[in-house]
Amino acid sequence: MEKLVICGGRRLSGEIDVQGAKNSALPILAATVLIKGESVIHNCPDLSDIDAAIKILKHLGCKVKKENNTLMVDSREISCYNIPDTLMREMRSSIVFLGSVLGRMGKAVMSSPGGCDIGLRPIDLHLSSLRTLGIKVDECHGTLICTKEKPIVGGVVSLSFPSVGATENIMLACALSEGRTVILNAAREPEIKDLADFLNSCGCNIEIGSHGTVAISGVSELHECEHHVISDRIASLTFMSAVAASGGDVILKKTDTSSFMSVIPIFEQMGCEINNRGSSLRIKMHKRPEAVLDIRTMPYPGFPTDAQAPVTAVLSIAKGTSVLVENIFENRFKHIPELQRMGAKIKIEGKVAIIDGTAQLYGAKVISPDLRGGAALVVAGLSAAGTTVVEQISHIDRGYENIEKSLSALGADIKRVKV
Ligand code: UD1
Repeated sequence: MEKLVICGGRRLSGEIDVQGAKNSALPILAATVLIKGESVIHNCPDLSDIDAAIKILKHLGCKVKKENNTLMVDSREISCYNIPDTLMREMRSSIVFLGSVLGRMGKAVMSSPGGCDIGLRPIDLHLSSLRTLGIKVDECHGTLICTKEKPIVGGVVSLSFPSVGATENIMLACALSEGRTVILNAAREPEIKDLADFLNSCGCNIEIGSHGTVAISGVSELHECEHHVISDRIASLTFMSAVAASGGDVILKKTDTSSFMSVIPIFEQMGCEINNRGSSLRIKMHKRPEAVLDIRTMPYPGFPTDAQAPVTAVLSIAKGTSVLVENIFENRFKHIPELQRMGAKIKIEGKVAIIDGTAQLYGAKVISPDLRGGAALVVAGLSAAGTTVVEQISHIDRGYENIEKSLSALGADIKRVKV
């Protein structure tokens, strides 16, 4: 077990590269199962969630090689269609293997992913969509058995909510199919386009419409390709939060500002000066943050739920009262009691957090409740007076590549310590 020890109060300055997107790399790694050949995936972040995906790939029979941030996945021989419970539990997003294993093998058997810290995270939309496409879905004592009894011939799947995972699973299940499947009210996150770009490079024909429509014209076989995973917009927003809270002047390189344009005005309202040049972004902050009256998490292109916790940490030291509404996950305020231990004045009323900014947070021993909640505690610790110890950082390692290394490069006093 490890923890992060942060001596707060240092301004951040310098340049860092932003990692590849975890939420793109995971479905793309799942998609490699569909290709009877070798996929070369560049810019894969080095994360424990990626290691969990590699374990699943190896279990299915793929040969996986890793060279720095490039993964080579040879899926010529897939030997099974079941994923054991132990591997499913390592990472909730493992459900994205459902579509690809089903697409390749005609059958997929895996445990239903359990609830997770940030909410129930049901998969009813994934399953009802597959049923619409003619897939037989049985659920028996926590095991999910999906069978393609006849080829998928296309159709229309209308999602009642633009679920990212459900959209990805439908794309993966339909990439090897006979007809054209149209998803209405599909997720529009940049990671969906990245998955489509990967599958299209392999010979599929996926069109992303401008109003949440994804049309998949399936093919009988996909070929090998090389792909470069997009930049991680949530990692960019987390580092921007760190600068907004601690002050400083930082350049983020290898970012993609077009993937989080709607969030930049929030940082400007907080008082940050932002200079945006496409693949690099300069953020300067020379004062105490200002409050932001109304932030609501929404599906893309709205304010991302994954950035809610780090931004809450910034607003907890803002001048004035901020109001933040979490619309996506029902239990995504678990970082707030930890921030309160550091002196934050935040009230929660259902899905609304009312943040009464305090001039200074104080270092404390806190526990990372989940991935983005953990990142929020790091952001808070960087700006706090004194020493903050963040425990249970395995959550943070699921989504941030050596967070302490990136922040130390910017002048933060942060160390990883073995417990
Ligand atoms: C993905 C991201 C996660 C992000 C989330 C929302 C990955 C690996 N994870 O998660 O970081 O926070 O999108 O942007 O890409 N829902 C249902 N039934 C379903 C599916 C979803 O009710 O069948 C609900 C969920 O409970 C949640 C909401 O829809 O309230 C959003 O979920 P979804 O978009 O599916 O998120 P994930 O794909 O799990």
